[in-house]
Amino acid sequence: MFLYERACLWLGHIKLSRVIVMVSVILFVVPLFTHYYLSKYETASVALGSNSMRHTLEALGDISTMNIADLKLRIEEMLRIKASVSTELRELEEKRGRLQRESAAASAKADNVKAEYARATAELQRLRVSADQARLAQLEAIRRDTPERAPPALILPSQPPLILPPISPSSEINCRMHSCFDHSRCSLTSGFPIYFYDPDVFSPLAGAEVDGFLKTTLRQTLGYNAHLTQNPNEACVYLVLVGESFPFEKSVSSTIEPYKLLNETAIKNLPYWGGDGRNHVLLNLARRELSVGAGDAFSGASTGRAMIAQSTFTLNQFRSGFDLVTPPALGPPGGDVWSDCAPMAPARRKYLLSFQGSQSMTTSFQKDNDTYLIERLKKMANTAPESDLFYLQFDCDPPVEKRSVKSIGDWALCGTDRSRRSVLRDSTFVLIFAPGDSSYTTTALLQARLYEALRSGAIPAILGGDRITLPYDEVLDWRRAVLSLPKARVTELHFLLRALSDSDLLAFRRQGRVLWERYLSSVQASMDSLLATIRTRLNIPARPASPTMGAPAFNDSFSPPKLEPPAVDTEPEETLGPLEAPYPSPAYRRNYSLALLHGYEMWNDWGEPFALYPQLPWDPPVTSEARYMGSAAGFRPIGAGAGGSGKEFSEALGGDRPREQFTIVILTYERETVLAAALARLRGLPYLNKVVVVWNGVTPPSAAAWPDCGAPVAVVRATRNSLNNRFLPYHVVDTEAVLCVDDDAHLRHDEIIFAFRVWREHRDRIVGFPGRYHAWDLNFNNGFLYNSNYSCELSMVLTGAAFVHRYYMWAYWRALPAAVRDYVDHYMNCEDIAMNFLVAHITRKPPVKVTSRWTFRCPGCPVTLSADETHFHERHKCIQFFSQVMGYTPLLSTQFRADSVLFKTRIPHDKQKCFKFI
Ligand SMILES: *[C@@H]1O[C@H](CO)[C@@H](O)[C@H](O)[C@H]1NC(C)=O
Ligand SMILES: *[C@@H]1O[C@H](CO)[C@@H](O)[C@H](O)[C@H]1NC(C)=O
Ligand SMILES: *[C@@H]1O[C@H](CO)[C@@H](O)[C@H](O)[C@H]1NC(C)=O
Ligand SMILES: *[C@@H]1O[C@H](CO)[C@@H](O)[C@H](O)[C@H]1NC(C)=O
Ligand SMILES: *[C@@H]1O[C@H](CO)[C@@H](O)[C@H](O)[C@H]1NC(C)=O
Repeated sequence: MFLYERACLWLGHIKLSRVIVMVSVILFVVPLFTHYYLSKYETASVALGSNSMRHTLEALGDISTMNIADLKLRIEEMLRIKASVSTELRELEEKRGRLQRESAAASAKADNVKAEYARATAELQRLRVSADQARLAQLEAIRRDTPERAPPALILPSQPPLILPPISPSSEINCRMHSCFDHSRCSLTSGFPIYFYDPDVFSPLAGAEVDGFLKTTLRQTLGYNAHLTQNPNEACVYLVLVGESFPFEKSVSSTIEPYKLLNETAIKNLPYWGGDGRNHVLLNLARRELSVGAGDAFSGASTGRAMIAQSTFTLNQFRSGFDLVTPPALGPPGGDVWSDCAPMAPARRKYLLSFQGSQSMTTSFQKDNDTYLIERLKKMANTAPESDLFYLQFDCDPPVEKRSVKSIGDWALCGTDRSRRSVLRDSTFVLIFAPGDSSYTTTALLQARLYEALRSGAIPAILGGDRITLPYDEVLDWRRAVLSLPKARVTELHFLLRALSDSDLLAFRRQGRVLWERYLSSVQASMDSLLATIRTRLNIPARPASPTMGAPAFNDSFSPPKLEPPAVDTEPEETLGPLEAPYPSPAYRRNYSLALLHGYEMWNDWGEPFALYPQLPWDPPVTSEARYMGSAAGFRPIGAGAGGSGKEFSEALGGDRPREQFTIVILTYERETVLAAALARLRGLPYLNKVVVVWNGVTPPSAAAWPDCGAPVAVVRATRNSLNNRFLPYHVVDTEAVLCVDDDAHLRHDEIIFAFRVWREHRDRIVGFPGRYHAWDLNFNNGFLYNSNYSCELSMVLTGAAFVHRYYMWAYWRALPAAVRDYVDHYMNCEDIAMNFLVAHITRKPPVKVTSRWTFRCPGCPVTLSADETHFHERHKCIQFFSQVMGYTPLLSTQFRADSVLFKTRIPHDKQKCFKFI
């Protein structure tokens, strides 16, 4: 009875769990009783093995005294109780489960609503920002009441030059561009067409043939020049190959070839001569017989209004701003000249100064008496301290007849090319004398000395340099590459050479090398420079650099269906900018001002004058107030100009440049799932103009559905599998900013946007995430090793996740030695190192590292230790090889990293930072 009562009591008061315990006790005990008493009727004694059972029975001993009927009743009652309790329990349990489920559902719903609210708020904010953006763009479009000027109709002359009366030979000397050049044949938009007279047909030399090599080379190299035209009627400039080097000796002796005189009749009979030779360039390239001097093809001849291009001029004959001094045709026809390269370091070489030559002092032509100079120089060499070695040879044996040299007091080159080169490679400076005949401003021999000096990295010190004209000096700044001294400075020479610092020596040497490579090294370089110099005079823009027309992977009528990508919840909720329609960067805005404002830099620093690029990293910004006074188009100042952080900042790009977007270039090799994941991660990324996927695979991409990343995706197929393809200047890229990413690089949106904003202020640099450096090999002491350890100094930012300017995609193919790209192809590695070398070489600046991220490889990617070792070994080799090819290691170190302005700044609670996490 008490059991029942207690059970009822308990059930009323105690918790469910306790009830369950109780009930199990009851359920356990009741069958035991039952069993015990039933068996007791049959056998008087029962052996109980279990102590605990006995104990229980003892406790319930009084029960045994009850009669059986009673017991039966009780048992039945207990069974009833059990049944009712368990029913009740079941119901309770069900109820509890139901309540639990309901509460879980409710809280999930609450979470959903909360998340939905956050998303909606962010989306709303973004939409608002985007709408503002669209409104602004629309306003701008309306305000721009002057539409873009269409280029004027292309004016090309349709007739050969009209026949005009020739000018008198005595006034030829006064010819300048304004008096002897017909500008009407060269309109600004004409593209500067050049016509080249076939040297096999037109040979204006009296009684001699031009060397076949030269003819072929010239025809070939000009064939590569974008300005060449086959139509003489539309040409602006007519190029005539007159000849090559001539010996000076005018007196016709039997031992040397007769003086090759210009055949004036042949010149004047040229089909487009037009009576006076307007717009003609008469080219005389020194090549053969250079060792004894090569000369002037035109002395005493009448050349009408034609320009003359050669290596030898007298001061009287040279018409500055009209005639052109060319380097001699010493190099290869074209192609890579880097194999000739001498290492630039150490700054100070074995010999402080060297000279090898021989000059005869006895001729009557000579007007400068160099005897004094030579005595002084010999004395200088003899009295110099031992640390300053001189290698001066004033009377070496010239290898051939030197009679021709005597006449103008030029110094013959002596020794073999190889021996001269080895001396030059050991010389810090090399001496070059202005010709003894002071009426000359340049001779082919002098130019040849300049050429070989720059090639070997010996800094030319030109005595009499104040009289000398160097090649293309109207555009090239030779002061940065040679030491030009009046002859009277000879006593001060030693002092001066010693006074220069190592860094200046290296700067001279490097600049000399840059000028040599771009403008003198090969026949092609020299011809391109000749034509570009004339074009620069006329301020006609170069031909645009042609982009790579990547073969689209999908045809126009088909593109893979787009999938809604799964929501990525790794992105922090943060409005990073408006979602806009694709907006290409304005292109070719500086056709006619670039060469005026930046002509110096284009020829002497960064860039190159041979092609026109849609934009350059160095294009100047407008001044601050001009943005509010008429030049506002495109600008998105923060807070409309009031500035701000947080919300205002996230709504506008700000900065000193108009609004712009960026393109993401992903190089992928047949990894469609990885690519799809990469595209999915880009969804909702502001300022994204386009994604260009460079498909490096042999098999085309399958037409399976790809996730929609919100921006247009262009898939171009590479013709061959090469890592260099990442840097092809594809025509589908419309923006200046290009974000290069590996397909497996995980970058957060805020990181990308921050890097983009930083890049906009450092447009000429690589701006990105993973930092690396070149560490000196302390064990072998002979070069640099690639290092990826954590370090407080870095010199490379890997292009697996970095912004670069689109211009460098052209430069990668035009300014980087082909040997470097071949190396990348051969080892399938190091294209990122090559890009860092290139940009550092062009800008002499280190890259910019943004945010704390040092590495970005996917965490799960399997990398075996041996593969890792091979990888690093290859990259050491890459650095060493690239440095060898370029003559130096252009990388520069930086200890600087960019974080957003208010990062870690303590600001009031009601104010926001620029970015939440960076
Ligand atoms: C000069 O050129 C004319 C016309 O091409 C030719 O008839 C004449 O023989 C040439 N004279 C010499 C000396 O080559
Ligand atoms: C050059 O000057 C030296 C003296 O300095 C003299 O001996 C020599 O004869 C001169 N030579 C000529 C060609 O005038
Ligand atoms: C375009 O490509 C799709 C799939 O690659 C192909 O089925 C279709 O025939 C192509 N259309 C044309 C016009 O080439
Ligand atoms: C500038 O040059 C580019 C490339 O040749 C051309 O497309 C563009 O129309 C030119 N712009 C002007 C204003 O002449
Ligand atoms: C880290 O630096 C050590 C030498 O300091 C070098 O041996 C090791 O290769 C470096 N590791 C990497 C990954 O570059």
